[in-house]
Amino acid sequence: MFFKKISINVESVSINGIKVVVFDDYDSLSRAVCDRVIDRINAKPDLVLSLPTGGTPFELYCLLIESYKQGLVSFSQVRFFQLDEYLGLSKDDPNSYYYYLNRYLFDHVDIRRENIFSFNGLTDDPDKESILYENQLTRMGPLDLVVLGIGTNGHVAFNEPGSYPFCRTRQIRLEESTIQANLRFFSNGSPMPHSALTMGLGNILEAKEVFLLANGSGKAEAIIKTLHGPNTESVPASFLQRHPNTTFFLDRESGLFVS
Ligand code: PGA
Repeated sequence: MFFKKISINVESVSINGIKVVVFDDYDSLSRAVCDRVIDRINAKPDLVLSLPTGGTPFELYCLLIESYKQGLVSFSQVRFFQLDEYLGLSKDDPNSYYYYLNRYLFDHVDIRRENIFSFNGLTDDPDKESILYENQLTRMGPLDLVVLGIGTNGHVAFNEPGSYPFCRTRQIRLEESTIQANLRFFSNGSPMPHSALTMGLGNILEAKEVFLLANGSGKAEAIIKTLHGPNTESVPASFLQRHPNTTFFLDRESGLFVS
């Protein structure tokens, strides 16, 4: 399939320090993010990058794969850090986030396996695994670009409510709303883990640039609290107001209350 590159002429507004762009629909939002990710990789081929899982980035990954096939971008020097992973799932478990990233992106582009820094979801020592990850990030970092989704409860990566800006990589217990929202991805009725490893808000806030994607009316409340509410651990994404270079890419429904 051939994807035509279109230039998207959409104005951004600034709300509490966050640049916000609202698109007509999911397709144009995904295309705009794709173009910007490609720009960042082409400007710095060994970009230190994190990308999200979940339903929101599906189209972004299709477009990135297509762009790679068209020779518009190469991932050969990109260094990738996984945002989060379920505890108790192996890398080849179809429900793991590592598997997801391979299936929807990495298996189709030229990223080098040794440049993918991922969590061992099967670790029996989550604290040690978190320290190993932090050490790798310190060696390679800071992150140049972190692309995030957002949970309906305002989580980013798996920084659930109760997460503070000083939080580093760690084990976290998932909220019931997160478990319910993500159950749809669990195939064959496999039990869903109730805890995970996640990059911390502190790591995210140290990144040079952050993109956050949201689509659908189900995200509108989380978006409005994040943009207009106080910085609070009950909406962890609200701490992005403190980040100097964050852009939100929203469709009309998730940006419904953006003024
Ligand atoms: P979603 O997940 O893209 O599937 O809505 C986002 C998130 O929970 O961060």
